[in-house]
Amino acid sequence: MKKILTILLAAFIFIQFFPIDKTNPVTNDGMDFLKIKRTPEPIAKIIQNSCYDCHSNETKYPFYSNIQPFAWLLKNHIDEGRKELNFSTFATYEPKRQAHKLDEATEYVEQKKMPLESYLLGHPDAKLSDEQRKELIQYFRKIQKEIETSNAL
Ligand code: HEC
Repeated sequence: MKKILTILLAAFIFIQFFPIDKTNPVTNDGMDFLKIKRTPEPIAKIIQNSCYDCHSNETKYPFYSNIQPFAWLLKNHIDEGRKELNFSTFATYEPKRQAHKLDEATEYVEQKKMPLESYLLGHPDAKLSDEQRKELIQYFRKIQKEIETSNAL
């Protein structure tokens, strides 16, 4: 038993030598979803607070981002999240993709798939209330419709 614990502890210490890269990509306000859509402040706050750590280039790294293996999991979510939907580069998406991503966002928020459950453990304030969920859904739908209408999609 003692031997196993020693090995585990050694492994834990060893993996601490492999920290994650926490440099955020450079942001350009002209490409940012909240900026180009002039999102009303209260809604922008919700999105920043609940989605931006994984779906933007403005990630705020929590304390556990210094501790492996938690940091690796976080990093993985950030990489995956940005790949799927990056609000910081939203303007670079084709209109069709923009509309599609907003449709997905509505669906994920509706089904409570986002923010990720594991993330909420460390960020209880990112949890959406029913009211916030409703506001987000309405807002995403509204912008989606605007994009579809103005691009004849
Ligand atoms: C802890 C990181 C994290 C947070 C916070 C988070 N997401 Fe995600 N999101 C992910 C990951 C990882 C994926 C890709 C895997 C998946 O689809 O489950 C994803 C996928 C998505 C997708 C799917 C995109 C597609 O085209 O398939 C949407 C839409 C989305 N997230 C919206 C949101 C919204 C809206 C919020 C805030 C309310 C949010 N996410 C918060 C990590 C996160």
